[in-house]
Amino acid sequence: MALKSVLSAAQFTREDLDRILELSRQIELELQKRKTIPRLGDYVLATLFFEPSTRTRLSFEAAMHRLGGKVISSVGVQFSSLAKGETLYDTLKMVEAYSDICAIRHPVEGASQVAAANIKIPVINAGDGAGEHPTQALLDLYTIEKHCQISRNRLKIAFIGDIKYGRTIHSLIQLLWHYDCELVFISPPELRLGERYIRLLQENKVIYTETENIEALLQCDVAYVTRIQEERFADHREYERFKDRYIVNRSLVERAERKLIVMHPLPRLSEVSTDLDDHPAGVYFDQAQNGLYVRMALLLELLGVKL
Ligand code: NCD
Repeated sequence: MALKSVLSAAQFTREDLDRILELSRQIELELQKRKTIPRLGDYVLATLFFEPSTRTRLSFEAAMHRLGGKVISSVGVQFSSLAKGETLYDTLKMVEAYSDICAIRHPVEGASQVAAANIKIPVINAGDGAGEHPTQALLDLYTIEKHCQISRNRLKIAFIGDIKYGRTIHSLIQLLWHYDCELVFISPPELRLGERYIRLLQENKVIYTETENIEALLQCDVAYVTRIQEERFADHREYERFKDRYIVNRSLVERAERKLIVMHPLPRLSEVSTDLDDHPAGVYFDQAQNGLYVRMALLLELLGVKL
């Protein structure tokens, strides 16, 4: 069934995932032959980003441009009428009037759900506070399939860093339970996966372990490293305690027992060393580039237009 909006990774069936990955793959191949695939000339995408972003917004906008569509954008609360006291509801009614589809990043969990309930155009959750980031999870899945063929192999996937607040992890684990894989969560005890997600893992019979020991990634196929989410800490001293706790670098990765890829949603600080940038294990720039193909696929899918 075609998707109406993209709000949470929980909404996807395995069939949806197969379809989106296949469409993304076709788009990646097509873009090797030409620069644009003009299919959305009649459509306008609105990007509303009320939290910082580089890759997500630029790749959504690039995706729309490469499909021949148009983009309008509102970035930063301070530059929108929200700063004058306008409600999000009124802002959304304007977005509905001016565009055909919108991508929203907002600091409040559930903001995109509220948006989708109030406007008729498709809504894409581009990150809602410490909640979810489903389109990032789709491009992460595409990257894992591309490098490790998750649809054919039994994989062991490690998540390292801020598992409590990392919204990309919250979304990705909800896609991974459609595949045969085992999860390893590596974090300080204070930054472990929240109860709600633990319950979901158990309900979906996912095999997982939790540890503080970074060496656990040496037995894995994928190391998904994340930034400690400074902006989510109420007490800054807490953040200081965790910020340089884990560093994944070339010398660690070269001790891996099997072929290992290192992923990161970016932006990175110190947690992935730059000495992995030109190492075969470091796939995070390819991962970010895959965001373009996957977001093009999502725009086509949500607007009901064929490739
Ligand atoms: C992530 C996010 O915004 O959640 N970035 C991204 O979209 N690629 C990860 C992060 O900010 O740490």
